[in-house]
Amino acid sequence: LIQLFATKKEQEMLVLGIETSCDETSVAILNDRRAILAHHIYSQIEQHQMYGGVVPEIASRAHGEILPLLLKKAQKEAQIKWEDLDVVAATAGPGLIGGVMIGMLSGKSLAYALQKKFVAVNHLEGHVLSPRIEQEFPFPYLVLLVSGGHTQILLAKDIGDYEMWGTTQDDAVGECIDKSAKMMGLPYPGGKYLEELAREAEDHGTNLNRSFDLPVPRTHDKDMHFSFSGLKTAVRSLLDAERNRRSDGVLSRDFAADLAFQLQNHIAKILCKRLEYAFEKFHSLYPQTLCRCALVGGVAANQTLRQHLDRLAAQWSVQFHVPSKIYCTDNAAMIAWAGLERAKKGLFDGFDHPARPRWPLEDLRTG
Ligand code: KG4
Ligand code: ZN
Repeated sequence: LIQLFATKKEQEMLVLGIETSCDETSVAILNDRRAILAHHIYSQIEQHQMYGGVVPEIASRAHGEILPLLLKKAQKEAQIKWEDLDVVAATAGPGLIGGVMIGMLSGKSLAYALQKKFVAVNHLEGHVLSPRIEQEFPFPYLVLLVSGGHTQILLAKDIGDYEMWGTTQDDAVGECIDKSAKMMGLPYPGGKYLEELAREAEDHGTNLNRSFDLPVPRTHDKDMHFSFSGLKTAVRSLLDAERNRRSDGVLSRDFAADLAFQLQNHIAKILCKRLEYAFEKFHSLYPQTLCRCALVGGVAANQTLRQHLDRLAAQWSVQFHVPSKIYCTDNAAMIAWAGLERAKKGLFDGFDHPARPRWPLEDLRTG
């Protein structure tokens, strides 16, 4: 029995993950049986809200204050001793450098003191592997990553082997949504509020009354890249024109709701068009393989986008998957999971691993 227990213990890999690359401080402890023993996410949104965006210096300080508390809480909740850990994984980029340094150095210090292995995780790899946390999701698969900082179409071929097929040439889709929402007078970050506003147009059917001329970016380029800054400018012009037109200079809720409704659908169509090229390319590369596609990032919460993607996936016979919301937005479970997947392949990092504000996923292939 003792031997049995020892074998069981040997197989189990316990990983601590730390995420501090933007405005969420997060810690998770999980094992290779997909058991999440502890997971805490502290959102700093309230501290940044009055500035209408993330203030890097405020973010770093908050990470520094909150991270030690979350680590303690997670250890208690997981009912483990620090020595029980096998691996410490921390985000080493890309992201705001101050926050990345705090999380990464904390992870390195813990690993060093405990004499455990360390994995420097690329935050984007965390997102790309997140569909595998809750279920089997075999390679190769496509990922549409849509967040406040990223808009990318990626092919995941294996651990550490990713191809970026498309990215944004200017604003991220979440950034375009947040800026448009801000211009409509909605709180930061505006995705959720824009969606609520758009629902009013749907409920009242007012969207039938107005149609806006929103630009379709990059129509002549048959690739998978994006551009969202023109759309943001178009929203500004439409709002300015409407304010000028009205004698009180105040935007009506109806108008804003109609615009929000059409903007959401417009963005969903742009993303779908690019994904169609991705499905086509996937089918030509892997004609015998079922095409799987995961939607991750904060914008994945958007129901309009999901409906459009569901329809598209059905047309293309693609298996479309959206992880639970907690794994879509920034979180440490995906960092711990990426650490675990790398650790299983023996891919560890030294304590001299740098913090990288920019770190394209494709760099992982060359090391
Ligand atoms: O992944 P995330 O939590 O943080 C990073 O940017 O890394 O994504 C946040 C983004 C913000 O732009 C936010 O407005 C957007 O996700 N978002 C939404 C919705 N909920 C959050 N966008 C559209 N509809 C939503 N329901
Ligand atoms: Zn992220």
